[in-house]
Amino acid sequence: VIRRATLDDAAALAELGARTFHDAFDTHNQIENVDAYVARTYGERQQREEIASPDGATVVAEEEGRLIAFAQLRRVDDAVELARFYVDQRWHGRGVAQSLMAAVYDAARELGSHRLWLGVWEHNARAIAFYAKYGFRGTGSHPFLLGSDLQTDRIMEIGL
Ligand SMILES: CC(C)(COP(=O)(O)OP(=O)(O)OC[C@H]1O[C@@H](n2cnc3c(N)ncnc32)[C@H](O)[C@@H]1OP(=O)(O)O)[C@@H](O)C(=O)NCCC(=O)NCCS
Repeated sequence: VIRRATLDDAAALAELGARTFHDAFDTHNQIENVDAYVARTYGERQQREEIASPDGATVVAEEEGRLIAFAQLRRVDDAVELARFYVDQRWHGRGVAQSLMAAVYDAARELGSHRLWLGVWEHNARAIAFYAKYGFRGTGSHPFLLGSDLQTDRIMEIGL
């Protein structure tokens, strides 16, 4: 089931967000930097605020009542940023990401934008390949601070 998150999802979303972030980035980064980012980003209170924001959207995928993937969008001026897009490791390569992306396009249009962009770590080859497969094109790069590590994100975008 793919649906919009409600406030009741905040705790599960905080847990899934922290776990999928660690799974994706612990191997190639210093753990203090990952911990610092996760602590700031995935608390339950933070998730409640993001779910409730009128300038954003949180979309979740669930299987038998458990969250297995989520995406978070935020509107900035005339564009929408796909700020987070994470699938539980056990569900990689099984089509969940594809269904979630279709729901993301709908949510971005509902936020009133025909331009969706994202930043993805330059070394995250699987995610870059995934986004390219769904029509995102590279348009530049920007700095991204993971804890105290200044990294480079590729900017990719798609017209809807
Ligand atoms: C990024 C993510 C959402 C993609 O979902 P997915 O179900 O894994 O997507 P796919 O299996 O379709 O993989 C996308 C493409 O990556 C490529 N790919 C697969 N495994 C790869 C690997 N280990 N290294 C590099 N590229 C890989 C393939 O080209 C694949 O497409 P294809 O199999 O149709 O040729 C998912 O892997 C994920 O949640 N990763 C961890 C979190 C993350 O990095 N999120 C993005 C943050 S910006």
